[in-house]
Amino acid sequence: MIASRLKKITSLWVVIVLLLFVISIILGILMRLNQGDVIQLSPVTFYTDMTVHGLTMISIWYVAGMAAVNFIMERYVTTSKPANIIALVFTLIGVLMLWASTFIGKFHAGWTFLYPLPFKEMLKAWATPLFLFSIAVLGVGWLIWCVSLIAGMLKKYSLAQVFAWQYFRKGPKTETPPFILISMITLVGIVTCLLAAVILLVLLFAEYFSKGAFVNDALLIKNLTYFFGHTIANEMLYLGLAVIYELFAEISGKPKWKTTWYVALAWNCTLFFILTAFFHHLYMDFVQPEGLQILGQLASYLASLPAAGVTVFSIVVAIYRTKINWTLANLLFFIGVMGWVVGGLGAVIDATISNNFVLHNTLWVPAHFHTYNAMGNVLFSLGFFYWFSFQFSNKMDDNKLSALKLFFLVFGGIGFLAAFYIGGADSIPRRYSNYPDEFPLAKTLAIIGGSFATIYLIGILLFFVNISKRCVKILFSRSS
Ligand code: HEM
Repeated sequence: MIASRLKKITSLWVVIVLLLFVISIILGILMRLNQGDVIQLSPVTFYTDMTVHGLTMISIWYVAGMAAVNFIMERYVTTSKPANIIALVFTLIGVLMLWASTFIGKFHAGWTFLYPLPFKEMLKAWATPLFLFSIAVLGVGWLIWCVSLIAGMLKKYSLAQVFAWQYFRKGPKTETPPFILISMITLVGIVTCLLAAVILLVLLFAEYFSKGAFVNDALLIKNLTYFFGHTIANEMLYLGLAVIYELFAEISGKPKWKTTWYVALAWNCTLFFILTAFFHHLYMDFVQPEGLQILGQLASYLASLPAAGVTVFSIVVAIYRTKINWTLANLLFFIGVMGWVVGGLGAVIDATISNNFVLHNTLWVPAHFHTYNAMGNVLFSLGFFYWFSFQFSNKMDDNKLSALKLFFLVFGGIGFLAAFYIGGADSIPRRYSNYPDEFPLAKTLAIIGGSFATIYLIGILLFFVNISKRCVKILFSRSS
């Protein structure tokens, strides 16, 4: 029996995430319209919006995955409600601090706040320290949450069981549910990259407060930044996959998925390779030791292919030539996995060193990461939100409206992404507030992208209204 308090906290997470998502999409559309010359934003406003958009998106889809994992984990182990609440409060405070440093203080160094950009003059002198403190607040809340979930699992499962190592021997005597295995692998990765963020922040604060007496090594800071940023952005996808491994079969009316030796092997490989794949962000930093560049390429393949292989295999086996109980929730999971695979292929193409010479920092980059986020991870979480909000309500969903919502999401999403991919293939650079005349196609593509994104937004608004209404009911219900 899921405790009423957990249902209420999860409902609150769902409503907050969806609300912040709508605001962040609007910022994204404004950026595309500015790039298309339909509206005129000052460059500082554009980069402020880009910084807020990027960081808010990463934050909300990370906490969305965590809230879903926490909710389902209660089926197996007792989870800490205070840790969940602390994470919620710290996330809200962190986002407000981030918005103050950007919208008021005009901090606009992008979501990667790549050194030495944060130390360039912003409108307000307090913008940089406030921004760095906002990251610290978010990180502390998330670290507490992750550690509490890991501790909960280790109370019930031994270290070998939680990583499913017993499957590497014949006739394993104990079972590790795939949900537990994937959650553990992912949470350990997240804790590692959050610890890297702590070192990063300490070094940046040291330079800031020493007023230049201490100067950082730019290459070290870039490595730390991407170890943190790339890893968390990828791990949040795996939180969504843990949920799919638990719910896809259940919602489809099929037998529960079980861990096998190859599932255990694939996910154990992912733990190591996901932590080293970030080196592909430094291919153009020629002072980086060459061995790390090669490791970056190999790890990029090995972090994604085994996990994608076993997940797609499991889904195909579940749906091939059998009658499935399709609902909006498992349809969202299914389409989300396809989006994840397509975006993943785009990422692997870019992570191949010879291709990266051409695609580096072109629109190909937002193309692939928006694919596995906007059409992958977002759909994983939306599927969970939808399933969660219906769990505690007797009302069935309206099929016609479901089809319409899916249509807006998929049609809008594909058009929005296609404009990025075509731009990338045409070598149009990313992160330009205004495109110079040397890129004749860029403005048209930006307008097309912004228009399709508006269709995607309509789909999200329909989901938002539908899901939030039920979550608000759960929030104010007296049931236990
Ligand atoms: C329809 C919804 C969305 C729209 C319209 C949108 C739009 C944009 C645009 C125009 C950019 C700047 C591209 C450039 O480099 O020129 C951008 C960057 C970015 N977006 Fe989105 N986006 C959407 C959804 C998402 C989602 C779901 C996520 C993540 C979960 C996300 C994360 C990011 C990140 C991390 C950046 C990079 C920011 C930076 O470079 O500092 N976006 N987005």
